[in-house]
Amino acid sequence: MPESFDVIVIGAGPGGYVCAIRAAQLGLKVACVEKRATLGGTCLNVGCIPSKALLQSSEHFEEAKHKLAEHGVLFDGVKLDLAKMQARKGEVVTANVKGVEFLFKKNKVTWLKGAGRIVAAPGGAGQGSPGKVEVAGETYETKTIVVATGSESTPLRGVEVDEAQVVTSTGALELPKVPGHLVVIGGGVIGLELGSVWRRLGAEVTVIEFLDRLVPGMDNEVAKLLERTLSKQGLKFRLKSKVTGAVKSAEGVTLTVEPAAGGAAEEVKADVVLLAIGRRPHTEGLGLAEAGVEMDERGRVKTDAHFATNVPGIYAIGDVIAGAMLAHKAEDEGVALAEILAGQKGHVNYAAIPGVIYTWPEVASVGATEEELKAAGIAYKSGKFPFTANGRARAMGDLDGFVKILADAKTDRVLGAHMLGPDVGTLIAEISLAIEFGASSEDVARTCHAHPTLNEVVKEAALAVEGRALHI
Ligand code: FAD
Ligand code: NAI
Repeated sequence: MPESFDVIVIGAGPGGYVCAIRAAQLGLKVACVEKRATLGGTCLNVGCIPSKALLQSSEHFEEAKHKLAEHGVLFDGVKLDLAKMQARKGEVVTANVKGVEFLFKKNKVTWLKGAGRIVAAPGGAGQGSPGKVEVAGETYETKTIVVATGSESTPLRGVEVDEAQVVTSTGALELPKVPGHLVVIGGGVIGLELGSVWRRLGAEVTVIEFLDRLVPGMDNEVAKLLERTLSKQGLKFRLKSKVTGAVKSAEGVTLTVEPAAGGAAEEVKADVVLLAIGRRPHTEGLGLAEAGVEMDERGRVKTDAHFATNVPGIYAIGDVIAGAMLAHKAEDEGVALAEILAGQKGHVNYAAIPGVIYTWPEVASVGATEEELKAAGIAYKSGKFPFTANGRARAMGDLDGFVKILADAKTDRVLGAHMLGPDVGTLIAEISLAIEFGASSEDVARTCHAHPTLNEVVKEAALAVEGRALHI
């Protein structure tokens, strides 16, 4: 008799492992299939965690080299030990992935090691019959299957990835030496975060972006200021440009670059090229088509509001379905789905999911942008406050940026917030909470904020919605 489970989750990224743990907490018998040698998915192994480790280390290097002198902290000859920095990053990743393994044991989630494939949908072969998932030659039975197989880097025709000279984010996290010239294709989140890492460590970095702006989807004003701020730091941007080919040689990579709208081609030489033009859902070899699971026009698993696919008993969450490709979005979907499977009322409020870019200064956003509100014909008020007028930011020496809060013109309900500045990735949580609670900008403005903190910029921006900021 094959071993049977209530739930088999395929993929142990933030979506899958969190769903497995929550389902087990709620008393279900759960297995999670993972083909990678360690748990935690893209995020913990080759995404959020290693990139943040390198962002932190490279920022310390930059501070020691260029920023601490204004605080009266002087060094003689700051040097980079890249091997040590990379080794530390590895330790950070190991601690995190081992942590998930511990949580699986604690919650009695079975880790099925290997690639999972759906061989029968629950109820497929006859009324009420269990689904079947095959892993490493064994077949397991289950009442429910959760697909949480995440995403992978989107390829670009003419630019062949070898993870040495032409890398995805995975290779860019592992470079053994600082490249002389790093060319990044794609001015999105990965390009700007990892471009920042290698620029801080000494590379010349050029970002080639197809559109006329960086980070599409983010607030326009924030995106423009981000471009100016990163340019001041030394990143070079070629907007409205497309790469049509890459030729590798022992000397490096020669890229063919053309204006996005067409026109004369130009050659750009690079030591390393980072391809970061987005990520696509990872659905190959899973047996989804054979099970009859519908995909959308972008190859994502199609689900309803409760994460159910068109095939009864098969659900999907995280990067493999529609929506922002973010770890916390995947986690929240994992929790909501586990609760639904246990008979509760799981729910994700997509209007309150923050997005953060971990450059320095950081960028953070939640809810609607001005552009979205205008397009939807929603009348809104806006309050904005700069970090230059905040005592703590001045003490830190981090004065770039602002907080902007958008509130409904009639009800004053907070609809969105967009920030660039020191630690705004942490500050944004206050506005996510405000949106979750249906708070007004007046509620945020009337909440006491400790002095002197960066959070006071959020309060002042809320006061500014009614034109009554105090410190400007
Ligand atoms: P994944 O984390 O991709 O996990 C899916 C897992 O499924 C993988 O481990 C894969 O091996 C496994 N799998 C696939 N197919 C099978 C199969 N057939 N059988 C068994 N296992 C299978 N998001 C943030 O919110 N904040 C960040 O700071 C951030 N930084 C990032 C930095 C980088 C460089 C990258 C690439 C991404 C970053 N992201 C960040 C995005 C984040 O990593 C993803 O949104 C998140 O990992 C999605 O979680 P998931 O569970 O849907 O999928
Ligand atoms: P992205 O979608 O953020 O940015 C891709 C960029 O490439 C866009 O600006 C796009 O216009 C541009 N582009 C597309 N095709 C192009 C072409 N042919 N030539 C030049 N430019 C082109 O994708 P990215 O940076 O690869 O990241 C993938 C996902 O990973 C993101 O959607 C994000 O959700 C997630 N991520 C999140 C992070 C965070 O939360 N801090 C960090 C890193 C990744």
